[in-house]
Amino acid sequence: VVYENSVIASKSVANEIAGLIREKQSQNQLCILGLATGSSPKSLYAELVRLHKEEGLSFKNVVSFNLDEYYPMEPDSINSYVRFMKELLFNHVDILPENIHIPDGTLSKEAIADYCADYETKIEALGGLDLQILGIGGNGHIGFNESGSLQNSKTRLVALDHITRVAASNDFSGLNNTPRTAITLGIKKIMEAKRVILLAWGEGKSNIIKASVEGSVTNLVPASFLQEHNNTTFVLDKAAASKL
Ligand code: GLP
Repeated sequence: VVYENSVIASKSVANEIAGLIREKQSQNQLCILGLATGSSPKSLYAELVRLHKEEGLSFKNVVSFNLDEYYPMEPDSINSYVRFMKELLFNHVDILPENIHIPDGTLSKEAIADYCADYETKIEALGGLDLQILGIGGNGHIGFNESGSLQNSKTRLVALDHITRVAASNDFSGLNNTPRTAITLGIKKIMEAKRVILLAWGEGKSNIIKASVEGSVTNLVPASFLQEHNNTTFVLDKAAASKL
């Protein structure tokens, strides 16, 4: 779906999420949301905060699982995804702290495999993700599932591509300070989500959007796996859609 701009697009996605949360509330059910970081979902989170403050949308029945976190990463570090999520969403809505899940960047290396398996078990125990929000990396990564990630990949520690690190290097004041690894939800759990919405804005994303939507399904472009998901929408602004 192509919108005039990212603000209008984000409002539409926020309305869909609000509708899902309210529908679950009316059935006394939890709403299991997979959430993303990066610049793309910022306007979505701003609109969800507005819906909470001005239109009484409650997040008390929401359980969230974030896609990824740099490793190693302290939660209160300026570049942590924990901090990002608190500042843009969680601190401004009534989600219960115990319902928030973000991969832990402070684990010892030995503890990561069990932690990742447990992260997936928690999602499964809740019946899977009702809705997964995604951004897309310039190389087609989703979460931190870089090129070469398998369609059935699990939640795990991954090495970040050079292109991903370069894209993040401004935030870390230089490539040398940019993490080399991250923990990411695997593609399998993303593909198992009942609904997936991928957000992309701007001309800079237009080539990778074309490759993901119109190219062949290949692990060189992990977002192309979504062609095989039966309830995925790419929500784009005009510039991101300009090569389609
Ligand atoms: C990071 C995140 C991804 C995100 C990507 C794109 O790599 N781990 O989940 O999709 O950035 O970021 P942006 O939305 O800023 O373009």
